[in-house]
Amino acid sequence: MVAVDGPAGSGKSSVSRAAARELGFDYQDSGAAYRALAWNALEHGVDTEDADAVLASLDDFDYRIGTDPDDYFVRVGGTDVTQAIREPRVTGVVSAIARIPAVRERLVELFRRVIEASDRPGIITEGRDITTVVAPDADVRILLTASEEARMARRSAETPEHSARAVAEQLSSRDAQDSRVVDFMNAADGVTTIDSTNLDFDQTVSAVVDLVRTSR
Ligand code: C5P
Repeated sequence: MVAVDGPAGSGKSSVSRAAARELGFDYQDSGAAYRALAWNALEHGVDTEDADAVLASLDDFDYRIGTDPDDYFVRVGGTDVTQAIREPRVTGVVSAIARIPAVRERLVELFRRVIEASDRPGIITEGRDITTVVAPDADVRILLTASEEARMARRSAETPEHSARAVAEQLSSRDAQDSRVVDFMNAADGVTTIDSTNLDFDQTVSAVVDLVRTSR
């Protein structure tokens, strides 16, 4: 079991998925669950600021995620939302949902169930609180960071339709809100930091894969 945390734009999703593929592991994107719940709330007119309403919406929240790194998908109630959960309207409200403690508890249980259900030699789970809350006893725990400048440049390249300034503003305000809930900017005890500021994508994936291989 490998736990990877990091801020927005650190590349943790794409790096974790590529590393899982190389290792023959499963891959779990925990942020997708928060995003899918936010998408579901917007879809059904649930007030994302109303903690009780959001919590109640979890009762019939039919969430499915593909953990095969070659067949990644996110579905809610049979609808494929893999792309829709990345839309700015979802990104704009996801932090409000993620700061509700009872929601976090329920999703942490869900992440642990997915980890237990994996039948591959390992699973990489990535997010914000995986190394500290979801799986503090994981075999390998990594904090994937990059300078703020590098993270913004990467996110901006992924979304060329948005201005660099808008991307920068959304990224730093989301990080500020999220880090009030969990600390993913500093490595907890026993967590290895991989700083990808001066690494390209393949070098970052290799750093993760090498760390996992040497820890086994
Ligand atoms: O990683 P991603 O940007 O997709 O995460 C979306 C949001 O989900 C984050 O901004 C954060 O609010 C929340 N999140 C969280 N804990 C995690 C993963 C994501 O609070 N483990």
